[in-house]
Amino acid sequence: MIRIAAVGDVHVDKDVVGRYRPALEQLPDRADALLIAGDLTRHGTVEEARCFATEFGGLAVPVVVVLGNHDHQSDQEQQVTEVLTDAGITVLECSSTVLEIRGHRLGIAGAKGFGGGFAGACASNFGEREMKTFVGVTEDIAARLGEALRSVECDALVALTHYAPVPETLAGEPLEIYPFLGCYQLGNAVDSAPTALALHGHAHHGSERGRTPGGVPVRNVAHPVIKQAYNVYQLLSESVDSELVSA
Ligand SMILES: [Fe+2]
Repeated sequence: MIRIAAVGDVHVDKDVVGRYRPALEQLPDRADALLIAGDLTRHGTVEEARCFATEFGGLAVPVVVVLGNHDHQSDQEQQVTEVLTDAGITVLECSSTVLEIRGHRLGIAGAKGFGGGFAGACASNFGEREMKTFVGVTEDIAARLGEALRSVECDALVALTHYAPVPETLAGEPLEIYPFLGCYQLGNAVDSAPTALALHGHAHHGSERGRTPGGVPVRNVAHPVIKQAYNVYQLLSESVDSELVSA
């Protein structure tokens, strides 16, 4: 069994430093790895990235993250990534990593993702150049996430995104903004590989649980949704759902 702690949308700045740390220090007893589904910072500055690294770096379990839209706000995503990488945090963007956990290989493929909407209410690759550019970004990221997922050799595979791969976990958000919260192409990417669990954030008012059309469990781990420092999910066991860890 592999135990994955997960959270998203922690939005760290100097005022948040110290808020998560007590629960994080207990991670080794509760989980084998910590996955964070983007929006690590408030405005994506290098200073905030350093705050995030202070809060989530140097833990006794591996930490794997994707960036979110907030982490792009200052157009410093490259510098933000460098700060996190220097702190020993693995940052995925249409890429993957494999963690060895008690003889099992946990594969994680991640990408920020992008919006676009879902079946019946989505943007299409048609018309103005601006619309084709928008949908082109959505399709490109999803295609590269799918490639990353399919190329990992592992015993248990997790997809980690900021944007949502299904509409179910957006329930609670206004319908009008669903196209800005996720896209069906990410769900197709998840379903194109033997994914065991898909984690995302971004939808602060959404719902925790959903499932892709192909049957993969989806969990929205945005901090305002799970209302604690992290949830823990089990892989290579009968269920992905574990006890909820209070923090
Ligand atoms: Fe977000």
